[in-house]
Amino acid sequence: MKIMVTFEDKTVVVTGGASGIGAATVTLLRECGATVHVFDLPAVDVTKRETLEAAFANLGTVDAVIANAGIGRPIPFETTTDADFARTIDVNLAGVFRTVQIAAEKMKGRRRGSIVLTASTNSFDGEADLIAYNASKAGVLGILHTAANELGPWGIRVNAVCPGLIRTPLTQAHFARPETLKDYFRAIPMGRGGEPREVAQAIAFLASEAASYITGASLLVDGGQMAAKFSPWNEERGEFLDDHWVLS
Ligand SMILES: NC(=O)c1ccc[n+]([C@@H]2O[C@H](COP(=O)([O-])OP(=O)(O)OC[C@H]3O[C@@H](n4cnc5c(N)ncnc54)[C@H](O)[C@@H]3O)[C@@H](O)[C@H]2O)c1
Repeated sequence: MKIMVTFEDKTVVVTGGASGIGAATVTLLRECGATVHVFDLPAVDVTKRETLEAAFANLGTVDAVIANAGIGRPIPFETTTDADFARTIDVNLAGVFRTVQIAAEKMKGRRRGSIVLTASTNSFDGEADLIAYNASKAGVLGILHTAANELGPWGIRVNAVCPGLIRTPLTQAHFARPETLKDYFRAIPMGRGGEPREVAQAIAFLASEAASYITGASLLVDGGQMAAKFSPWNEERGEFLDDHWVLS
């Protein structure tokens, strides 16, 4: 038996597809045969309903939509302003709401379609200095569950990936500091951060027919981070080389 993850003759939209996880997803889906449309700034802004609607209206049928656009800037809880909070919610949460709502309207007529949201491990935890980001990503799971429930009867599946720390422009500050990484990755059973393509592979699976009976699911792509209650790595059992913990 073969697991088929193919996108031959399929049309896919990726929001935030110009960078990082989105860009890796665009590349992978094209390798799998898809026609991929990138919805990203400045041409398409997920905070602007009219722009988003017009971008979808320009397309013919759409088989899959990846609602991935997101922002996240660390700001301490005490100094986060209403404007900081509102902006993050507008892009990361309301942006996903708009994208899913407009995509679903386009898919309903064909009684099929697949939507994948980029949530986060921060949908579940309370990483410091990310109050707005964490609230937005927790909210994305609310959209996930409600949309999967309401769109299932229309043959539209909705799933989410929940990445851990992935090497992208969004996280370059982390990856620029080996000492920070060493501590961060102590808590990750696989002993390292993730690469954008590793998230793209999970997105492609969920978007594809290989996941035909999966909807409402959130798939952690985090090297086991959320499974580990205590740090599996320390200097007694391993060493930190080239951004990885390895057994001694
Ligand atoms: N990198 C990580 O460690 C990580 C972990 C968990 C979740 N995520 C999520 O993955 C997604 C992609 O993040 P990334 O790390 O690839 O970041 P990135 O900064 O490399 O890419 C984000 C993309 O979203 C686009 N974007 C931002 N605001 C937009 C808007 N208003 N309209 C349209 N596009 C917009 C940006 O232009 C950019 O191309 C985000 O939702 C992020 O929260 C990232």
